[in-house]
Amino acid sequence: MIEARSISKFFSLVNEKGLAEGLTAVLNVSLTIPDGRIVSLLGPSGCGKSTFLEILAGLQAPTDGEIRIDGRLVLEPLPSTRKEMEEYKRRYRFISPLANGVFTDRPKHDIAMIFQDYAVFPWMTALQNVVFVLRLRSAGKRRSDRPSRAEMEEKAGFYLSKVGLAGAENKYPAQLSGGMRQRLALARALSVEPKIILMDEPFAAVDALQRERLQDDLLYLWEEAKGNASPIIIVMVSHDVPEAVYLSDEVVIFSPGPGGTVRNRIPVDVPRPRARTDPEIVAIQERIFAILQYDINQESMYTI
Ligand SMILES: Nc1ncnc2c1ncn2[C@@H]1O[C@H](COP(=O)(O)OP(=O)(O)OP(=O)(O)O)[C@@H](O)[C@H]1O
Ligand SMILES: [Mg+2]
Repeated sequence: MIEARSISKFFSLVNEKGLAEGLTAVLNVSLTIPDGRIVSLLGPSGCGKSTFLEILAGLQAPTDGEIRIDGRLVLEPLPSTRKEMEEYKRRYRFISPLANGVFTDRPKHDIAMIFQDYAVFPWMTALQNVVFVLRLRSAGKRRSDRPSRAEMEEKAGFYLSKVGLAGAENKYPAQLSGGMRQRLALARALSVEPKIILMDEPFAAVDALQRERLQDDLLYLWEEAKGNASPIIIVMVSHDVPEAVYLSDEVVIFSPGPGGTVRNRIPVDVPRPRARTDPEIVAIQERIFAILQYDINQESMYTI
């Protein structure tokens, strides 16, 4: 279970006149996501969706509030500079680096993240890309628990074939189509067998047909994990209302930013497999379009 409690994020900036300025990217977002759920985050550009997702992943620290996964706190990466260390000390209220258990019991969470522009390494083949993340994951383990190179390659091959990339193991990303690259990013995320997959507009760069196929593949793989008694939580940022409704158990709508906060939570209680044209699905889409349209109209009233 993911629990986000009163998450806010402020950025301090220096404007063109050299004056300090604050920007609220996320304001007081609380969200609980039970295991095995698919949740989409929807909202206008700049409302803080990516920021919130990165906070969930522990890639950014919230200014306020906390994230817990299965009850354990999510902490941002360890500080690497003196300035970051001072900030870290203030945040966790300690004096010595070993105090408060912040360094000693840093929990490890099983999270995989797929970024807004797919992050695969262009200089590695498809297989090498997957082996790379498997190697990263095994780095923290005891030597005797680490898988061998052959085992990692076998696993990488297995997940590549799961996403329909069997035969493309030795191709470089540049030799793959946009949809195939997106599949590669998915194979990398799945290969570490995560409990949580966070996706930032994963299908934005592919054409409509590919997109529908990828959505169905994702649902298939998610259902399969459910059968293995290790249900995966998927949290996905999307700009596409039909996609969000078709895939999700719940659609969370953010208010227009800056200072995005949760505006509505729309449950999608339609059993799977779903038809994209199911009247219930279409009705929920229309309700969401109406909310988004309302926000756009409100905004233009202010700006006129
Ligand atoms: N590192 C940063 N420093 C300063 N401001 C930032 C930083 N990252 C994001 N912001 C600001 O925070 C707000 C939210 O950004 P974010 O990327 O989370 O939006 P988003 O909802 O993902 O938008 P989009 O749909 O366009 O991807 C924006 O106003 C953005 O300019
Ligand atoms: Mg974004």
